[in-house]
Amino acid sequence: MADEKKSQQGEWSSRFAFILAATGSAVGLGNIWKFPYITGENGGGAFVLVYLLCVLLIGIPLMMAETLLGRRSKENPIHTMEILAKEAGAGQNWHYLGWLGVAAGFLILSYYSVIAGWASAYVVKAFFGSFSGASPSEVKAIFDGFVASPMQLIFWHSLFMLATMLIVVRGIEKGFEKSVGLLMPALFALMILLVGYAMTTVGYFQGLNFLFKLDFSKLTANSVLVAMGQAFFSLSLGMGAIMMYGAYLPKDVSIAKSSMIIAGADTIVALLAGIAIFPIVFSNGLQPNSGPGLVFETLPIAFGNMFGGWLFGILFFMALVFAALSSSISLIEPAVAWLIENKGFSRKKACLWSGLVAWVLGFGTIFSFNVWANVKLFERTFFELVDYLTANLMLPIGGFCIAVFAGWVMKREHSQQELDFPDNLSYVLWSFLVRYIAPVAVFLVFLNVVGVL
Ligand code: PHE
Repeated sequence: MADEKKSQQGEWSSRFAFILAATGSAVGLGNIWKFPYITGENGGGAFVLVYLLCVLLIGIPLMMAETLLGRRSKENPIHTMEILAKEAGAGQNWHYLGWLGVAAGFLILSYYSVIAGWASAYVVKAFFGSFSGASPSEVKAIFDGFVASPMQLIFWHSLFMLATMLIVVRGIEKGFEKSVGLLMPALFALMILLVGYAMTTVGYFQGLNFLFKLDFSKLTANSVLVAMGQAFFSLSLGMGAIMMYGAYLPKDVSIAKSSMIIAGADTIVALLAGIAIFPIVFSNGLQPNSGPGLVFETLPIAFGNMFGGWLFGILFFMALVFAALSSSISLIEPAVAWLIENKGFSRKKACLWSGLVAWVLGFGTIFSFNVWANVKLFERTFFELVDYLTANLMLPIGGFCIAVFAGWVMKREHSQQELDFPDNLSYVLWSFLVRYIAPVAVFLVFLNVVGVL
């Protein structure tokens, strides 16, 4: 591969820009909305431990694998798999992996945009003081009333999708590096503030206990799968988003260090969200397993009752929307880059079509919370089905294949060259995790779920 080759879509201006963009992709609704509610549904501590192990043993090595594949080819994930398979002398079927990722991106974005729409609506609700002095039951009533209205959800979903498309149209370099650079630290600071509030509540220790006390009796085969799926989802792995961002990465940046920083930041934000939310749950006699509404039913109580809560509430939901935007653009970028690079679309046209598909799919999720709430397939609503299919099946399967490719198919000297470790031991460790631990773990979890084990 020629070293001077750059992606057609441009390149990050520095290592910092890459870390910022990839952290922007990783940190989002997955950390603040999803992690707390699935932790609540899966019993707390033991689930969190499995999640952390998955991040460490599967997530970080895989993030390195995805980044190195992308950087080596400098192309969109579909084309990357084609090029690298050829380079390694492997069959052409590998490009289906790129397809799987693009499909997962569309499906995730379709519901991601709906939930990000909720967060956007909450900026406005916070602004109009809807939460000020509100009791837990009032806060719940606000949420229930809101999601019961398809029209409102459609409005906010459309707005968010439009915003995503507008950012993606501008392309990667101009992108919105600056606003992400500003809002990520803001989100972080607000999370710390919320943890501070949680500490003042009577349920603080109960909340911590729930999050960190290991009770393996609550762990089922399915919760292990959900924890693993969440590691993929939260780190944006298994669908080519990080691969795509790797393609924009200059040659001289250390992939290992960047991956650890990104995964570390992502994990810290998720844990902070948990530490902020569960004390509020227990202090107010709420249920930890109340599902996708959890964040929207708890944090407004904090904002409604803390000093400066009006302003902090607005800022928090704004920061959450930005965090969601910096993730949603990475969900759609692989598809957009493929349409441009391989199908000759203009960036505008590529964005328009991709956005339209995800927007239409999003209606299924919107209706899952109201008119189709009782329409179930395999005991799941449309939203739950899409979520399960993507986070628990498509991403882990994608991750499994990426691990196999990077560990077994790609030539050693090529991965070694990209990773450029100062010592051999680090490479051996990475190689061991990617060849054995990651694929075997994913495989065993799947076996376990289908009941073979
Ligand atoms: N990681 C993002 C989040 O946690 C979601 C995401 C998944 C983004 C997959 C890109 C790819 O919110």
